[in-house]
Amino acid sequence: MMGTTGWFETVAEAQRRAAKRLPKSVYSALVAGSERGISVDDNTAAFAELGFAPHVAGLCAKRDTSTTVMGQSISLPVFISPTGVQAVHPDGEVAVARAAAARGTAMSLSSFASKPVEDVAAANPQTFFQMYWTGSRDELVARMERARAAGAVGLIVTTDWSFSHGRDWGSPSIPERMDLRAMIRFAPEGIARPRWLFDFARAAKVPDLTAPNLSSDGGPAPTFFGAYGEWMQTPLPTWEDIAWLREQWGGPFMLKGVMRVDDAKRAVDAGVSAISVSNHGGNNLDGTPAPIRALPAIADAVGGDVEVVLDGGVRRGGDVVKALALGARAVMLGRAYLWGLAAGGQAGVENVLDIMRSGIDSALLGLGHSSIHDLGPADLLIPNGFGRDLGIDA
Ligand SMILES: Cc1cc2nc3c(=O)[nH]c(=O)nc-3n(C[C@H](O)[C@H](O)[C@H](O)COP(=O)(O)O)c2cc1C
Repeated sequence: MMGTTGWFETVAEAQRRAAKRLPKSVYSALVAGSERGISVDDNTAAFAELGFAPHVAGLCAKRDTSTTVMGQSISLPVFISPTGVQAVHPDGEVAVARAAAARGTAMSLSSFASKPVEDVAAANPQTFFQMYWTGSRDELVARMERARAAGAVGLIVTTDWSFSHGRDWGSPSIPERMDLRAMIRFAPEGIARPRWLFDFARAAKVPDLTAPNLSSDGGPAPTFFGAYGEWMQTPLPTWEDIAWLREQWGGPFMLKGVMRVDDAKRAVDAGVSAISVSNHGGNNLDGTPAPIRALPAIADAVGGDVEVVLDGGVRRGGDVVKALALGARAVMLGRAYLWGLAAGGQAGVENVLDIMRSGIDSALLGLGHSSIHDLGPADLLIPNGFGRDLGIDA
């Protein structure tokens, strides 16, 4: 069912194929945001508000899209954001990691992912491991050390999760089984649903949902539901905790989900090497504006101190160029590659990365630049009132 389906020309087409291929509930779990969907909608709408200011002559015959992020050289300023739902395809995160490696870029693996970090890091030596703040300090360190031993070259810590489980679009319809109902009700952003529904459709049986990267030693994996329950009960991290974990890791360290200038400054003080300006793809606190609106003020404030990455709403190479022009070093993709994965497995993810690369190249050509490093606000038409400078006076 999930074989290669041939080339597609835009992410929108990958999305259409994903919609056709996946069970309806699985597809909606990938697409939808939390609550009313204000944030998820703004993530793409904000990119559409920005325009370009192209030149017509004196353009550059050669354009360079390569850069570095978290100590890794990447061939384009785009890499994979961690998501916990890649079991939409049997090869899941391993297929994504291979595709990223084939296109010369980095992979991020969610600790709620379906494949062990050992397999993913073997498929892409540029793998970052993502953790939520769950479990004891010893467990956090053990999990991190397992990822390090597996070859992970950077750590991403995501702390923008506020345990909101309501969605106006409704929950996927599922058979009457209490345990599954409970699991689905408490599942963050549909991590559990897609895998279960897909396997259910194919095998007509209930799979054993586990999170293999949450066991520190590669031993028995906790169930997904158990893991989520533990997360909900874990004391929430302070800025000192972030600094502590950063010290334990020692290497490249990203704090993901920063939306305010004051938080960005605290992240710098905590010693992080990178932040991602992100609203969790609109899956967290609904009403949080699009990260592209918060980016300029944050990049202004801390761009000289840490690497500023953006994720949320990136659907084409032009979006990447807009983010870079407003101060991002690189962007991470979420839904775009998930749709590619659903549409065509590894080849589908490669296809999405190729779309990004050629879109970036077209925009660079039109804007008269030979390198992504030459992009700046003068390349854009930025409507009045576009920005949302959060936490700037604090
Ligand atoms: C289905 C789904 C699952 C996600 N799971 C995680 C996760 O486990 N850890 C994490 O840090 N972010 C997670 N995210 C957020 C993404 O890493 C990223 O911030 C977001 O998808 C970017 O927005 P985009 O989908 O518009 O590209 C998830 C997002 C989606 C859509």
